[in-house]
Amino acid sequence: MRFQDRIAILSGAASGMGLLTAQRLAQEGARVVLTDLHLEAVTAAAAGIVAEGGEAVGVQVDVRCYDQVSAAVELAVKRYGAVDILVNSAGGASSRVCRSPAPFHEQNVEVIEWGLDVNLKGAVLFARAVLGRMLAQGRGVILSLSSVEGVTGSACVDYGAAKTGIIGMTKSLALCGAPHGVRACCVSPGPVLTRPEMANMKTRLGRAAEPDEIVSLILYLCSDEAAFITGANYVIDGGRSIGGMQ
Ligand SMILES: NC(=O)c1ccc[n+]([C@@H]2O[C@H](COP(=O)([O-])OP(=O)(O)OC[C@H]3O[C@@H](n4cnc5c(N)ncnc54)[C@H](O)[C@@H]3O)[C@@H](O)[C@H]2O)c1
Repeated sequence: MRFQDRIAILSGAASGMGLLTAQRLAQEGARVVLTDLHLEAVTAAAAGIVAEGGEAVGVQVDVRCYDQVSAAVELAVKRYGAVDILVNSAGGASSRVCRSPAPFHEQNVEVIEWGLDVNLKGAVLFARAVLGRMLAQGRGVILSLSSVEGVTGSACVDYGAAKTGIIGMTKSLALCGAPHGVRACCVSPGPVLTRPEMANMKTRLGRAAEPDEIVSLILYLCSDEAAFITGANYVIDGGRSIGGMQ
C-alpha cells in the first residue's frame, strides 16, 4: 500500500499503460482521477476500479486544451483535497494513431501537429496545471511517458521530437520542483504489448515488454522508495537502444 491516501491524476487513462497505472495505484491505496479524450471509455475505466473497491473518477479531457486540463485538476483537488501524483500517459505515434503512414516529408501537417500537441504540449500543460499546487503542498511527483524513440530518434519525426521534449521537460520540472520537494521523472519504454503488433519491434531480449513490467517501474518512481530520484529518464527497452539492431 505504497500510495495509501495519495491522490493521482493521469492522462490517457482509458487504455494501455495509463489505465494499468491507474488500476495499480488504486490497488495500493491511491485515489485516482482518470482523464482521457474518450468519455465513455474513461468513465467505464473508473467504474471498473470502483467495482474492485478502489476510489476513482473518470473525466473527459483533451490534453491539448488547457481549460479542460485545469478543470480536471481542480476537480481532483475539490473531491480529494490534493494532487500528489501526475502521470502523463496520453500519446502515441501520430502516423499510427492518425492512420497516415506517409514518410515525414510527405506527411499531412495536421498529423504532425497532432503528434506534437498530444505527445508534448499536453504533458507541458498538465504539468503547468499541477505544479503550483504541488509546490504549495511541498510534495508531488510528475511522471511522464517518453519513449526509447525519444532517445534514439524515430521515422515518425514529430513523435521522436516530442518524446525527446518530454525528457527535457522532466529535467526542467525537476529544477523547478526540487527546492520544494517536488520530483519529476520520465520513463522511456521500448515496445510494449499494449497492442499485439508491438511484438514485431526488435529488442536485444527478443521480445516486447508486458505492460506490467513498465508500470512496475512507473509505480516505483512515483513512490517514496524513489525519494532521491528526480530529473531522471529511465530507458526500459529490452536493450533496443544499445544499437546494432537490424
Ligand atoms: N505501447 C508502446 O509500445 C509504447 C512504447 C513507448 C512509449 N509509449 C508511450 O506510452 C504512452 C502510453 O502508451 P500506450 O500504448 O499505453 O497508449 P494507448 O494507445 O493504449 O493509450 C493512449 C491513450 O491516450 C488517449 N488520448 C489520445 N489523444 C488524447 C488527447 N488529445 N487527450 C487525452 N487523451 C488522449 C487515448 O484515448 C488512449 O486512451 C504513450 O505516451 C506512448 O507514446 C508506448
